[in-house]
Amino acid sequence: MPDAATDDLKQLETDGLAELRACADEAALRAWNTKYFGDKGLMKGALSAIGKIAKDQRAAYGQEANRVKVALESAYTAALAEAKEKALQASLTANPLDVTLPGRIRPRGRLHPATQILRQVYAVFADLGFQVYRTREVETDEMNFEFLNMPAHHPARDMWDTFFTTTPGVILRTHTSPGQIHVMREVRPKPIRVILPGMCYRNEAISTRSEIQFHQVEGLAVGEGITMADLKGTITAFARRMFGPDRQVRIRSSYFPFTEPSIEVDIDWPKDDPNRDRLTKGTGWLEIMGAGMVHPNVLRAGGYDPATVTGFAFGMGPQRMLMLKHAIDDIRLFWQNDLRFLRQF
Ligand code: PHE
Repeated sequence: MPDAATDDLKQLETDGLAELRACADEAALRAWNTKYFGDKGLMKGALSAIGKIAKDQRAAYGQEANRVKVALESAYTAALAEAKEKALQASLTANPLDVTLPGRIRPRGRLHPATQILRQVYAVFADLGFQVYRTREVETDEMNFEFLNMPAHHPARDMWDTFFTTTPGVILRTHTSPGQIHVMREVRPKPIRVILPGMCYRNEAISTRSEIQFHQVEGLAVGEGITMADLKGTITAFARRMFGPDRQVRIRSSYFPFTEPSIEVDIDWPKDDPNRDRLTKGTGWLEIMGAGMVHPNVLRAGGYDPATVTGFAFGMGPQRMLMLKHAIDDIRLFWQNDLRFLRQF
């Protein structure tokens, strides 16, 4: 059967394969594909030429045309796959990526231990119905002392070593108690249930046990019929949430000018803690706060009538509580920003 038409087909196959081998990259291959298999491609032309073939040779021509078509198609598919693989290898060696390298650790920030304990305290008191209220760190002598039942030259002022400013009558607050006056004057109507967290300053020699700045959390409840039993219940609930459900609370009588009666609150320390003796100086009890019933003069300074309302107040030091919780023996660590210390929390 060899005739001109089948020779053309063979030539098409030979040329096609040769041109395919000459293609350097994927783009060249795609151009080749258009040339041979596109709508106006050579292969299409060869297939439609069947109409001009003599009838008795058509079947043979058709078979041969199909064989060539399949041969070219599979050669193209193989060449394309090879070109892609080559391109991949080239890009891998050009930009080597060592997937065995350990990942880079991205340091994550964390909350300062002082912030963490404050948030725990807020959470406990939030459950007890207390709101957080903030007041200023720079106070007047009036707010820090006088309205808290300590007129000028009152001997109890010596309980708080004070930082004075160059402005007469303006000091750094030595405790959060002046916040009591602010709340009573600013928050209406009664009843009041707030905690007042914040930084306090005392002009003391810095040592492992005392710092010139530290946090306090003040608590204040004012309303009708508030009694010492409410104070006791609140403190006990707090101590158990903060330090464990089995904590016992012990109340000792004390003195603060702004509360009457005044108390100090101790909690018992777990018997199985090896640090118990050291922390409690052998007594088994640990002081966690000062507290008491708000003095009538303080209620008056806040604008309340002590004949109709009563209140309780307490003040505690979260740094001290942290030191207890984690057996930290140097209060100075809190504000030194030493990451080796801070990272442990
Ligand atoms: N302000 C007191 C102190 O700094 C603590 C305290 C607060 C005591 C409220 C009684 C009531 O020591």
